Amino acid sequence: MTIKFYSGETIPLEMHKVRIVQKLNLPPVEERVKAMKEAGYNTFLLKNEDVYMDMLTDSGVNAMSDRQQAAMLEADDSYAGSATFTKLESKVQEIFGTKYFLPTHQGRACENIISQVYVKPDTTVPMNYHFTTSKVHVTLNGGAVEEVFKDEALNLVSEDPFKGDMDIEKLTTLIEERGADKIAFIRVESGTNLIGGQPHSLENLKQVRAVCNKYNLKLVYDISLLADNLHFIKEREESCKDKSIREITRELADQADILYFSARKLGFARGGGICTNSEEDYLLMREYITLYEGFLTYGGMSVREMEAITVGLEETMDEQYISQGPQFIAYMSEELQKKGVPVVTPAGGLGCHIDASRFLPHVPQTAYPAGALAAAIYIASGARGMERGTMSEQRAENGNETLSHMELVRMAMPRRVFTLSQVKYAVDRIAWLYDNRELIGGMAFVEEPSVLRFFFGKLDAVTDWPEQLAAKFREDFGDSL
Ligand code: F0G
Repeated sequence: MTIKFYSGETIPLEMHKVRIVQKLNLPPVEERVKAMKEAGYNTFLLKNEDVYMDMLTDSGVNAMSDRQQAAMLEADDSYAGSATFTKLESKVQEIFGTKYFLPTHQGRACENIISQVYVKPDTTVPMNYHFTTSKVHVTLNGGAVEEVFKDEALNLVSEDPFKGDMDIEKLTTLIEERGADKIAFIRVESGTNLIGGQPHSLENLKQVRAVCNKYNLKLVYDISLLADNLHFIKEREESCKDKSIREITRELADQADILYFSARKLGFARGGGICTNSEEDYLLMREYITLYEGFLTYGGMSVREMEAITVGLEETMDEQYISQGPQFIAYMSEELQKKGVPVVTPAGGLGCHIDASRFLPHVPQTAYPAGALAAAIYIASGARGMERGTMSEQRAENGNETLSHMELVRMAMPRRVFTLSQVKYAVDRIAWLYDNRELIGGMAFVEEPSVLRFFFGKLDAVTDWPEQLAAKFREDFGDSL
């Protein structure tokens, strides 16, 4: 929740207390330059011991509650028929109203199975926006992704409360042009990750459902980022103001044929799952679980994590729990804006998204401005974010770069993890970097994997800009780290 101060300022207020802590390390700037170089200017490859604030992702790194940890002790460790699975299955049924639940080890495992079952060569999957792994699984099975976002989605400075909405007209045109038999399914992603954690509305999902009914198509709903999306629907969608989070969740779930999620995000733990009400779909997907994941009562997850997910899903129905992430993100985004730093607005879920195109207009997309900015932020602060731009795209078959729609650096806000003073520290160092932005240059690949290159590709700075940046840092901050 947020609270108003006597001074008039409004700040996010933590509705939890910290009972377990982990010591952090903040290496001096010279060591950060060295660590960044050794990591091939790829924040994925940094060692966590060199990182002060790990803002790479909110995946699997959200703080667990005391109740989650207590539940983990009760886990029933059997291969088949585990009571822990029954608890999780019942919780999923209760919250989403779906009869069948298939456990997986994480979100992309769901994407693998759904794509293998439903994506045939030469089919298209319309999406409100792609996610990296969801797109690759579709293309690996011979399909193509078509994004049917509304124009406002790519507008980084906007007041649109639901930039994650699908453009229904574009969707209908696409289906008419391709023919409904060439549409594998329609995929809607809650809390649209790659455009800055932007939500879609309940109304829009209902409209997509109507289109699915008209053309007899399946609606696959990725609810990995549902928690943030629920908060925004409750806050921004007039017709939902008086509905409970549980009611909104159920109404959303009722629109889809298949729901899937990464429990590294939804449920504050680690794992995943697919939910459906259709016996036919359940049976089609079931055999892949035993083939790729594990037996049907654990699907590759540890039983302890499954216990934690059960409690985490229940906690997701609590408005105070799910508002913490978006409100910290809004605070960080607003404070950065006050200092002139270009960020995505309105602030979304998942993290604070910095617009590298406007931050570094002098760095061309082919020199990965978002990747360079992520490296520079680490050098300036010890906080590591993630490149979400051209580096996260895959080259076209002819070797040409696929230029991303946007060049963003995502500073993820793992839920319940950071304090406000840590967020203020990150804001201060990023604001300093913005004032010294002309020092930052581009990067080039030295080792470039052909698939998901952003995970393990290595780059080099095109000049000695990292050293120059560190020298300026020393000049301005003296012996402060
Ligand atoms: N769908 C969405 C919307 C996601 O954000 C992710 C993961 C996945 C699916 C895949 O789930 O990681 O459990 O296999 N997003 C992470 C991130 C990787 O950092 O944003 P997974």
